[in-house]
Amino acid sequence: MTNKKLHRVVLIPGDGIGPEVTSAAQKVIEATGVSIKWDVVDAGAGALEKHGDTLPEDTLDRIKEIKIALKGPLTTPIGGGYRSVNVILRKTLDLYANVRPVRSALGISIHHNPIDLVIFRENTEDLYSGLEQDIAPGVAQSLKIITEKASKRIAEAAFQWARKNNRKTIHAVHKANIMKKSDGLFLDSVRQIAKKYPEIEHKEIIVDNCAMQLVMRPHLFDVLVLGNLYGDIISDLVAGLVGGLGVVPGANYGDEVAVFESVHGSAPDIAGKGIANPMATILSATMMLNYLKEEKASARIKAAIVLFLSEKKHLTPDLGGNSTTDEMVDGIIRKIMLLR
Ligand code: NAI
Ligand code: MG
Repeated sequence: MTNKKLHRVVLIPGDGIGPEVTSAAQKVIEATGVSIKWDVVDAGAGALEKHGDTLPEDTLDRIKEIKIALKGPLTTPIGGGYRSVNVILRKTLDLYANVRPVRSALGISIHHNPIDLVIFRENTEDLYSGLEQDIAPGVAQSLKIITEKASKRIAEAAFQWARKNNRKTIHAVHKANIMKKSDGLFLDSVRQIAKKYPEIEHKEIIVDNCAMQLVMRPHLFDVLVLGNLYGDIISDLVAGLVGGLGVVPGANYGDEVAVFESVHGSAPDIAGKGIANPMATILSATMMLNYLKEEKASARIKAAIVLFLSEKKHLTPDLGGNSTTDEMVDGIIRKIMLLR
């Protein structure tokens, strides 16, 4: 069924529900027969407690060496405290393309029409540059940085993917009516790349209207390319259309390194209760399996999830059930075995 190669992958269990959902993904991969040697490393709040550092040198070195990681969410303090380790990781490793497929077939849709859209979020700049200061009492400033290089890079990734996967339309999402310089540069960069892909329809939409259209007519969207902040917000919005954050996977790609992780965070409200939905991380692992050229195992897991969901049994509370993470994992593994 699978080639017998032993892969090496860095595992960052992460904070909150991270260890629960990443171990679920490990079990599901194991059930397909794909062999992985996991290098387990720390990052985030857990690493701060253990090593006095949110991103230990060893963690970065290991990802740079092995070049592929499966990652649980990392907690970031609100208002003050340390900088987001996620942002630092993405920037340091130059993981410029955050790709998030959103499919109703792999979740529980609130719409009748099937939803199948893919988000390409720029992952290295925008308001996430961390350039902030108090400029006077009661006045704070955050700098939004947009570059032609990063905008063209994410556009190229989106158009290339769309061409390879026979997708029809790309929406560039912006607020260039207000941020004429920064979002204007983003839009112009996407336009230049779009010229190289005449077979793909290139559309533009202002982010607030985009949010409304996505809620009312999500099936009209195919591929979306966005800056960092809009990509972050719109990702959670579309997750809400297909069953919530528990079901939407993601990948952070650079030219050298790839880190696979769900859209959701560390969910402190349910951490440690054994009820987190592991599907988002399992589906992130299927993206990882494709990257490792284990396409058959990846397809088998996705088919097993579709079968599992069709029965509406053993669902975690976020999907309306009362099952635990482990019961859901067992249910998915049983379907994987059926599809042998
Ligand atoms: P969150 O995504 O952790 O949770 C939002 C809501 O969705 C909560 O009610 C949570 O219980 C629910 N939820 C999320 N994942 C779920 C799952 N797998 N199964 C069932 N329910 C799930 O967002 P929140 O609360 O805004 O952030 C919590 C922490 O996570 C913060 O420190 C934030 O910075 C961090 N975060 C980290 C991310 C990452 O590491 N990539 C991404 C997003 C947030
Ligand atoms: Mg987010």
